[in-house]
Amino acid sequence: MHDLSKGFASRASRRGVLKGGAALGLGALSLGKVGADRTLAQDSGTLEVFSWWTSPGEAPALQALFDAYSAKYPDVEIINAAVAGGAGVNAQAVLQTRLQGNQPPDSWQTHIGRELIDQYVVPGYCEPITDLYTGEGWADVMPEGLVEQATWESEQYSIPVGVHRGNGFWYNKQVMADNGIEVGDTMSVDEFFAAADTLKAAEIPALALAMKDTFPGAQTFENTLLGVVGPDTYIALFRGEAPWDDQGVRDAADAYAKMLDYVNEDFSALSWDQAFALIIEGKAGFNSMGDWAYGEVVAKNAQDNIGWVSHPGTNGSFVLVVDSFTLPVGAPNSENATNWLTILGSKEAQEAFNPLKGSIPARTDVNRDIFSPYHQWSMDSFANDALAPSCAHGQASSPAFKQAFYDASTAFVTDKDVDTYIAMLSDAAAMDAETTE
Ligand code: GAL
Repeated sequence: MHDLSKGFASRASRRGVLKGGAALGLGALSLGKVGADRTLAQDSGTLEVFSWWTSPGEAPALQALFDAYSAKYPDVEIINAAVAGGAGVNAQAVLQTRLQGNQPPDSWQTHIGRELIDQYVVPGYCEPITDLYTGEGWADVMPEGLVEQATWESEQYSIPVGVHRGNGFWYNKQVMADNGIEVGDTMSVDEFFAAADTLKAAEIPALALAMKDTFPGAQTFENTLLGVVGPDTYIALFRGEAPWDDQGVRDAADAYAKMLDYVNEDFSALSWDQAFALIIEGKAGFNSMGDWAYGEVVAKNAQDNIGWVSHPGTNGSFVLVVDSFTLPVGAPNSENATNWLTILGSKEAQEAFNPLKGSIPARTDVNRDIFSPYHQWSMDSFANDALAPSCAHGQASSPAFKQAFYDASTAFVTDKDVDTYIAMLSDAAAMDAETTE
């Protein structure tokens, strides 16, 4: 297994930004009168939870967490402040505005790693929850690498609820059978193109793409990149330790450009779950998507007809997308929020949530038997494969590089201009290196 902590911690500390504690003093002062009122209002009967879980598969999974909380705290009213838009493309902007205006919810969803640390902890928006980790013994039941990515300067700042595998490649078994395509346990890039040509001849888009939320453009590239250059180079690239104008990156961009010749025409109008619905409905061949897609499979009862392999070339790697929740500085109902986090870290809540969400629990002491064959497959991959954090989901790189990665990928999906893509990524990496000097 790779050491997940290297890279982001050392780069962030090199930047010399004050840690949460110091910035926290400023935050508390600037709360002023509102802050005082908030203290009085603490632990009222509400709990506001902020996330982007609104799709047909995500919403019931979130509800399972609410139910686990309500079972213990029936008198607290939960306010679901979810903002639609896959990967938090809209939610994260709304949240920033609220945080800058000292209007935090009681808890928000974030990915561990760079997103948690750079976007929220270092600017002073999060309270440490180290006491909860100690009291609940979480570090004993979660993989060390996950706890490390929730840690900044020896304090923990969020509790992971589920571990998504970002490099899934999903297909409709009937569509494959009808077109004489046999999908094995793995798929190479060449095997994908052979299947894609068969589907094209049958006038079926081989790759369902969704650019309304923009993240699938970045995600499909990171998966393709991983498949072409392998996990070591992939990890080095996002850590700023390998050059983006490398031939391997160029080969990946070439392969991606070719894949884009097989996408659905309406990709710019579709959200990720709408594109995945094309797979469920048998209207497209494959979809490169994290396993929140399996949440859609569960919600639509489509288990029998949906198959999966790793994104072409990425067998043996697990792209990490780990969802977690925070305790904000100035949470209006901090006791309710603390209780919420305690529930999220429990075995019961993780066993209720993850079967619906498609992720595997962050806790490793769960009952494996209650999970689907997909989940068990993913658990095995997590245990045995190379772990590669996702940039499209904020874990692998700075927020600025992630944004540049999105922008470059969004342009590439339409213009397929490899030279410009490589140049944009190289420039973004150079700027990132300068700001972290
Ligand atoms: C990811 C998140 C997942 C899933 C997905 C699509 O960033 O980690 O839980 O919700 O976005 O919205």
